[in-house]
Amino acid sequence: MIQAVRGMKDLLPTEAARWQAIEQVARQVFRCYGFQEIRLPLLERTELFARSIGESTDIVEKEMYTFNDRHGDSLTLRPEATASVVRAFIENHLDQGAGVKKYYTIGPMFRYERPQKGRYRQFHQINCEAFGVDAPELDAELILMLMDMLEKFGLGQVRLIINSLGCPGCRPGFKQDLTEFLARQVEHLCPDCQRRVVANPLRVFDCKSKTCQEIVSAAPTLQEQLCPDCRRHLDRVLELLSGFGLNFEINPRLVRGLDYYTRTAFEVVTTQLGTQDAIAGGGRYNGLVKALGGPDLPAIGFAIGQERLASLLTDSRLGSEPHPFLFIAALGEAARQRGFQLAQELRRLGLAVELEFSDRSLKAQMSIADRRKATYVLILGDRELATGEAPLRHMAGGGQETMALAGLAPALARRFAAEEGA
Ligand code: HAM
Repeated sequence: MIQAVRGMKDLLPTEAARWQAIEQVARQVFRCYGFQEIRLPLLERTELFARSIGESTDIVEKEMYTFNDRHGDSLTLRPEATASVVRAFIENHLDQGAGVKKYYTIGPMFRYERPQKGRYRQFHQINCEAFGVDAPELDAELILMLMDMLEKFGLGQVRLIINSLGCPGCRPGFKQDLTEFLARQVEHLCPDCQRRVVANPLRVFDCKSKTCQEIVSAAPTLQEQLCPDCRRHLDRVLELLSGFGLNFEINPRLVRGLDYYTRTAFEVVTTQLGTQDAIAGGGRYNGLVKALGGPDLPAIGFAIGQERLASLLTDSRLGSEPHPFLFIAALGEAARQRGFQLAQELRRLGLAVELEFSDRSLKAQMSIADRRKATYVLILGDRELATGEAPLRHMAGGGQETMALAGLAPALARRFAAEEGA
């Protein structure tokens, strides 16, 4: 038996229904905030991710699905969407014209991580990016949108954590201090972090090793060294969020696992997911568009992990499994033909209708209808065809009525509109 690749999950119908509902809510919220959909290739040139996420990040060093195509080009299955959105933004000249440019994209990402609950090798993100404005209002707007979306999904019990990662003005001084601090105890750091002390000391903050965590808990933080502009930016973002009654925590050690961030960085975490507690993460990346060869435009975005979100919504009413409005239990060849015609007529009117093509007893067909949670069952046999009337059974209520076969489709369509179509 050939099995699915480790860390990659099948989404079965019940779960897929919940995902559809999640995506529908997300799309509605995006629309209200002026975001437009963008759909991008899953494969990009490896260099794109190395240059944007950063050569010495875990993602680029250890987690990418990279291969050479038949032409010898190094390609990578996208581990995240931001780099691809920026590439598309530049390549398609989407910076033309005034105003903030806002895009969202929903789809699979790939990271070769150790699979565990809430962590997969193919996972999905609801991702958005906004280009063109450095105003703290945009940061606040995005964070409010994220919290708004999570609330509309029906998610309670989340914590919003915020930090500022500074800018090219204030970060180098901090990096220097951090390097000196880490260098003093370099022999206690894990081998990865020993390398990172010089190359990329900020990455030590998100190392999972316990000793590295202990060491950085006493390290200097960027909060103490933000330049006046970055300080003002952060204060204004926090002031705006407070003004909207949002609760948040400031964590001066939140650095996020990707190198492109500047200024505002944030994460939404829950206590209900065990160690994989981040549902969403994002931040500003004011230098990335320019670094990838585009105009000098500030940008900000975030991504929600769809598997983690969906696993928190299993009890909610969001996205129930689809069920047929009508099941036609047809007995005999002539009834099956008539049932087939009726089903097609009703489906064209927008109703979900199912029927069995095999020769099963009424009892067997009723039990299929029950399992499929059909609202109504129409029983159709030779006698019904002869009299022009057929029983319609209401499955949940248990009642039954007699329906004229002539004009049955419009009659059922009207009933559907009254009961379920609204
Ligand atoms: P990230 O923090 O790497 O950020 O991922 C965002 C979210 O994706 C995480 O909070 C988590 O819910 C989910 N996620 C990440 N890895 C996995 C995995 N292996 N299995 C399941 N879920 C996972 C980014 O990707 C940035 N591109 C976000 C961003 C957009 N920043 C600016 N714009």
